[in-house]
Amino acid sequence: MVLNKFILLLLFVIGLIEASRILVSCPYGTKSYQNMYVPLVKELASRGHHITVVTNYQSSELDQTDNVDQIVFDQLAIDMSQFPNPFDAMLSKLVLLKSMALGVENMFTRPGIIAETLYNDQRVRDLMANDHFDLVMVSITFNAASYPLAWHFKTPLVMMTPNAIFPGVITSLGEEEQPSHIPFFMSSFTNQMNLFQRTVNTFTTHLFGYFIHQFHHEKIHGIVRKTILPDCPPLLELERNISLVFTNTHPSINYARAMPPVIVEVGGIHCRPARPLPRDLENFLADSDDFGFILFAVGSMLPMEKMAEDLAQSFIQTFARLPQKVIWQWKGKIRTDLPANVLAIPWLPQQDLLGHKNCKLFITHGGLNSLQEAVYHGVPVLGLPFGTDQKLNMRRAIDDGYATKLAWTEINQESLTSAIIDLLYNKNSKNVSYSTAAKRQHDLIHDQLQTPLERAVYWTEFVIRHGTEQLKMGSRHLNSFQRNLIDVYLIIIISAIVPLLLTFVCWRICCCRRQGNSQVDTNKKMK
Ligand SMILES: *[C@@H]1O[C@H](CO)[C@@H](O)[C@H](O)[C@H]1NC(C)=O
Ligand SMILES: *[C@@H]1O[C@H](CO)[C@@H](O)[C@H](O)[C@H]1NC(C)=O
Repeated sequence: MVLNKFILLLLFVIGLIEASRILVSCPYGTKSYQNMYVPLVKELASRGHHITVVTNYQSSELDQTDNVDQIVFDQLAIDMSQFPNPFDAMLSKLVLLKSMALGVENMFTRPGIIAETLYNDQRVRDLMANDHFDLVMVSITFNAASYPLAWHFKTPLVMMTPNAIFPGVITSLGEEEQPSHIPFFMSSFTNQMNLFQRTVNTFTTHLFGYFIHQFHHEKIHGIVRKTILPDCPPLLELERNISLVFTNTHPSINYARAMPPVIVEVGGIHCRPARPLPRDLENFLADSDDFGFILFAVGSMLPMEKMAEDLAQSFIQTFARLPQKVIWQWKGKIRTDLPANVLAIPWLPQQDLLGHKNCKLFITHGGLNSLQEAVYHGVPVLGLPFGTDQKLNMRRAIDDGYATKLAWTEINQESLTSAIIDLLYNKNSKNVSYSTAAKRQHDLIHDQLQTPLERAVYWTEFVIRHGTEQLKMGSRHLNSFQRNLIDVYLIIIISAIVPLLLTFVCWRICCCRRQGNSQVDTNKKMK
């Protein structure tokens, strides 16, 4: 390891490794989105590249990394307080509707706000005026505003998506949407759908893709041209020129699909072996060898104190009667009436706990990063999904046999207890214990040629060295009719039909004339 670093340093010093300047533009997204690009940025920086990161959450990890600058847009941090209490939204249809309406409004307005914020900012303007880069990497989420940066700096454009690739972008890479077997990321379908599901799935996939493209692109393009780059080409043109896409997927968690060669799967890029626990957690778990412990964490955004009292009581009473210890991630004011086997803490080292030898069960909202960690460390999952992609993730996890789920409306002491007992001691529908199924999934995600991080670093440097012209499919320049050969099939059908039609018409004409003639003959005879 030390030798490796030394050789790297040596190569670097004698100039065999070219250091590049990379711009990573992720001005919007949840905090967990950083799980995807922070490990990559750190690794690239340690290899001597210089990276400038545009983000809506300052990363303390990147603060401590050499060769990395951050441009932080605090005003683009996601303000959860504008949304209704998420626990209430799960229990009441009315609150849920209100929450969804706000989400849709956000989808319409946010991309424009991001474009305005980005290009009116003096730090970004200085960067554009004075700096140069060899590569621009952008996030997919509402972020077409960042495409023109690659055009401006004349660099290849690389995209990162916190999930599978979203509808809309895939067509720019020359591939069709595949709603016949790829479920929309906010649905809870599987990759085998009936006619009704395929109809709904096709409609939502295309609707979403349409909005991303037509609506967002035109609006953002107007803003970019007005504020800073009057000659900027249409965003669709820039999108069709994307050199590489990193998706946060792996077939052990996401459904397999045909992919253009520029898509590289790096799902689980942030997963790593567990490190020793902090002293207080180690002490709490000291006597957990017999029964193990349960980890309960529902993501970085949700404050537990907002949970309604009877819901909180359901959890507390259930946990109190278990022989396991429970570590509960608790944002907000911590209750004082928790049972002795329960430890509530605001922040916890999730991977170090999941990788602990005594971790028996993970209760989670089913976010993709959390599921990747559960699979990476081979821990069974009880899913309590809220929305976005969590239902889809859980559906797949249940089919793979290492998870069950409860809707928030179903949660009470009995249902929670029986779900937990089931996962800890019983077998799944395939007559395999949940922990055995989790181990199998763990083996799948570990059995790869390189780690996702090594793959991401390799491809990033590959794009800088060579670009990816040879990997871009010719179908990028066709529209949907041409790509599906509808124009060609029309010609084939027409060229088959026209001769038939002509023959038919000729035959009718000839026939009629002969008939007409014979009628004339008869008429003559009659006379
Ligand atoms: C397309 O990408 C190539 C290489 O990445 C770049 O040289 C070219 O300028 C780009 N074209 C547009 C219109 O952005
Ligand atoms: C489940 O597996 C066990 C052995 O692991 C076997 O004895 C039992 O018959 C199986 N049950 C069913 C329903 O297949």
